[in-house]
Amino acid sequence: PRQRHYEPRRPPSLFEIREMIQNVCSELVLDNSQLHKVMTAMEKSMNEGLAKETASTASVRMLPSFVRSVPNGSELGDFLALDLGGTNFRVLLVRLTVEGSTMMSKIFRVPDNLMKGTGEALFDHIAHCMAVFIEENNIDKSKKLPLGFTFSFPCKQEGLTRGKLISWTKGFKASGVEGMDVVELLREACHRRKDIDIDVVALLNDTVGTLMACAFKENNCEIGVIVGTGTNACYMEKLDKCGKLEGIVDKNDRPDQMIINTEWGAFGDDGAMAFLRTEFDDIVDKESINPGKQLFEKTISGMYMGELTRVILEKLARDKLLFGGHYEAIAQPHIFPTKYVSEIEAELKDDQEQTFSKTYSILEDIGVEGLSTADCANVAYVCSVVSSRAAFLTAAGIAMLIRRMGKKEIVIGVDGSVYRFHPTFPQLLDEKIGELLGNSNQEYRLMLSEDGSGRGAALVAAVATRLKQERGE
Ligand code: GLC
Repeated sequence: PRQRHYEPRRPPSLFEIREMIQNVCSELVLDNSQLHKVMTAMEKSMNEGLAKETASTASVRMLPSFVRSVPNGSELGDFLALDLGGTNFRVLLVRLTVEGSTMMSKIFRVPDNLMKGTGEALFDHIAHCMAVFIEENNIDKSKKLPLGFTFSFPCKQEGLTRGKLISWTKGFKASGVEGMDVVELLREACHRRKDIDIDVVALLNDTVGTLMACAFKENNCEIGVIVGTGTNACYMEKLDKCGKLEGIVDKNDRPDQMIINTEWGAFGDDGAMAFLRTEFDDIVDKESINPGKQLFEKTISGMYMGELTRVILEKLARDKLLFGGHYEAIAQPHIFPTKYVSEIEAELKDDQEQTFSKTYSILEDIGVEGLSTADCANVAYVCSVVSSRAAFLTAAGIAMLIRRMGKKEIVIGVDGSVYRFHPTFPQLLDEKIGELLGNSNQEYRLMLSEDGSGRGAALVAAVATRLKQERGE
C-alpha cells in the first residue's frame, strides 16, 4: 500500500509561545482609559464612605483618624510605639529632640497560630514583647511613657485613643477582636501581666504614621500611602466634605480638617472593579481567608502579588506554554512569594546578557522541571505584567486623591515592602501618576517615608501630648 506521509505538527516557535503568553496576560494590561475609569469609580466610593446616608454600607470606609494637625517640628520627648499589622510586630522607643529623632526598636515575630488564634493570646503576646523590650532597654517602669499604637487594620475610631476593629485584613483572624476596642484589649493584657503600665495617647493606622513622619520633614505632605503586605492611603480632608462627621466634630473648629484613613484596599468589594477583574484575581480571592473582601488590595499588595503571578504561571504551564507542560511544582499554593517577583524583575532590569541565572535558580528551588532560558524570560514577563498593573492601579488611586484635593503642590509619603524592594514599582508609579493627571499643573512628589509606623506613631503621640498640655489637661 502507498505509504502516507503526515507532516508532524510543528511545535510553536519561541516567538509564537511568547505571543500566546501575551494573549493570556492581555486582560492584565491596563490602559489609561481604564485607569481613568478606576479613578472615577474610586472617587464615587470615597464620597459614599464620607456621606452620612451611605457611610455605613460603603465599601471604601473613609475612617476618621482624629488627627487634625501635622507636626510642626517642635515635638519633643520620649515615646513608646507599637507597630502591629505587617509580617512582624515591633516595639520602639522614639526620642524626638531638636536635632531630629533617634530610635531603638526590636522586631518580634507573630507566629501564624497567634494571628489566627484567640485575641487574648495575641494581645498577651504583644504585652509580653513590650515587657521584654522595656526590660532589655532598662526603661524606667515607674514612669508611664506615653505610647502610640500603630494598628494597621480598619478601626472605627471615636477619638484619638480608642477604636474598634471593624474587620481583620491581611491574613489575621484572631477571634474576639472584631467589634472590640483594641486599646482596651491592650490595656487589659498589660493588667493581666501586672509588670507594665501604659498610657496609650494615640491609636493610628500605618498610613497616618507615614503621612505624619513625612510631614515632619515636608510640611506640604498631605497624603500617606502604604504598598506593603496590604495597601492603603490616607489624606487630609476638609471637614465640610465629611458629612458623616456632622455632630461628631464641630465644623467651625480649627483646624477645619482631619486625616481620613480611606481603607482603599476594600475598593471594589461592591463590584465597582468588576470591569477589570480577571479569572486569576478570582482564584486568588477564592483561596484567601477573606473571600470577597479587600479586592483592590488583592490586585496590588505584597501578600497577593506573588500568588497572583503563580496562578498565571500555573495556567501557562498547564497550557504547555511554560516548563514543557510540567505544572506540578508551580501548582502548589503560595510557593511563589512576592519577594521572587522583585528578585526576578531586578534581574530582568540589570542582567544585560539575560542569562536569567537567578530566575533559573528560584524556579529550580521551587522544583520546576523542564526549565529553559526562554521559560525564565517568560516568567519574568509575567512578573512584570502583574507588578505593572499593581503600580498603575496604585497610581490611579493617588492621582485621584491629588486631583480631588486640588493643591498646586503636594508631597505624598510612601512606605511598604513593595514600594521599597520592587525594582521598578516606584518609577512606574511616579510616571503613571503624571500621565493620569495630564496637564493639570498640579505638582506632586513621592517621598519614601522612613519608618512611618514607628516615628509616625511617636509623632502622633507627641502632637497629642502637646495639644493636651496646651489645653492645660
Ligand atoms: C490593610 C489594612 C489597612 C492598612 C494596610 C497597609 O489594607 O486594612 O488598615 O493600612 O493594610 O498596611
